[in-house]
Amino acid sequence: MYLQHFSLSEKPFSLTPDTQLFLRSKSHQEALNTILLALKYSEGFIKIVGEVGTGKTMLCRILLSILNKRDIVTAYVPNPWINPDEIKAFIAKEIGANYDENMPAHELTSSIYERLLTLAGEKKQVILIVDETQTMPRETIEALRLLTNLETEKRKLLQVVIFGQPELDKMLKRSDLRQLKQRIVFSEYLKPLNFHDFKSYVRHRLRVCGAKNEALFSRTSLLLIYLASAGIPRLINILCHKSMMVAYGRGDRSIGVFHVTKAISDTSESHWFGKFVTLRWQFTWLAVFAASVVANYSEVTTGLSKIF
Ligand SMILES: Nc1ncnc2c1ncn2[C@@H]1O[C@H](COP(=O)(O)OP(=O)(O)OP(=O)(O)O)[C@@H](O)[C@H]1O
Ligand SMILES: [Mg+2]
Repeated sequence: MYLQHFSLSEKPFSLTPDTQLFLRSKSHQEALNTILLALKYSEGFIKIVGEVGTGKTMLCRILLSILNKRDIVTAYVPNPWINPDEIKAFIAKEIGANYDENMPAHELTSSIYERLLTLAGEKKQVILIVDETQTMPRETIEALRLLTNLETEKRKLLQVVIFGQPELDKMLKRSDLRQLKQRIVFSEYLKPLNFHDFKSYVRHRLRVCGAKNEALFSRTSLLLIYLASAGIPRLINILCHKSMMVAYGRGDRSIGVFHVTKAISDTSESHWFGKFVTLRWQFTWLAVFAASVVANYSEVTTGLSKIF
């Protein structure tokens, strides 16, 4: 019904990182460029840090789809809350190494090494992508670091891209992780969307999901959503979706300040500035009006003094 009401084929603001809806925003494109260049020209770890909801998992999936098209062997660890043996077993399976459940740890490492050597012989790059790295136990990080020590005389056999929330940076300050920190050759911070990218983001999602009405959201409602989301994609999705639900509930065809205000006041994660502006909308207009009167006061008085 909701889709029909807005003439959409799919929900444009769902929370799943669907690569069909990916927008190459400035920040995401920069991070992607850094990763691809670093994978081509360097050998250490590559680290991408971003606040909650900025699009790290989405970027992991985009990266995987790009690498898989290039005939590169990839292994993706979506949830690294696992012990050292589990991560080795996981990597072994992903890269097609010999593996059985009862293999002792040292045999498993040799098996991974042999497989990596075979792949290197076939000129195939092997890349491990770890999401949510801030949750990885210390011993597992260490096991991963040791695995990346495997090398031929010419190059490392395994490259690793780690994604994580800002807690990852805090974690890397620990002295027992300094060896890993030293191995990070490139890092990038995934920034929230700027206003220009934010507008493209909303438009892009609506278009991909079949919206006919480009101006479904009024300009002011967009501005309010931007202020309340601080440009964080997940929050943008939540606020846009809730605003549409409010409009749908009232039978309205487009989204305006009223719907967005309701959505923002119902979303505790909204940025305080957006909340402030939205909930004191009339007050804000009064303040803007007063400010412009004050700003023009001197001009008005000089104008009057010239006349009289
Ligand atoms: N560039 C983008 N284009 C389209 N959608 C995006 C983009 N970046 C993020 N999103 C959307 O924003 C939402 C949050 O993204 P994602 O789950 O990747 O964030 P995250 O950084 O992994 O969050 P967390 O820190 O909680 O794991 C998802 O719905 C995703 O589809
Ligand atoms: Mg994520």
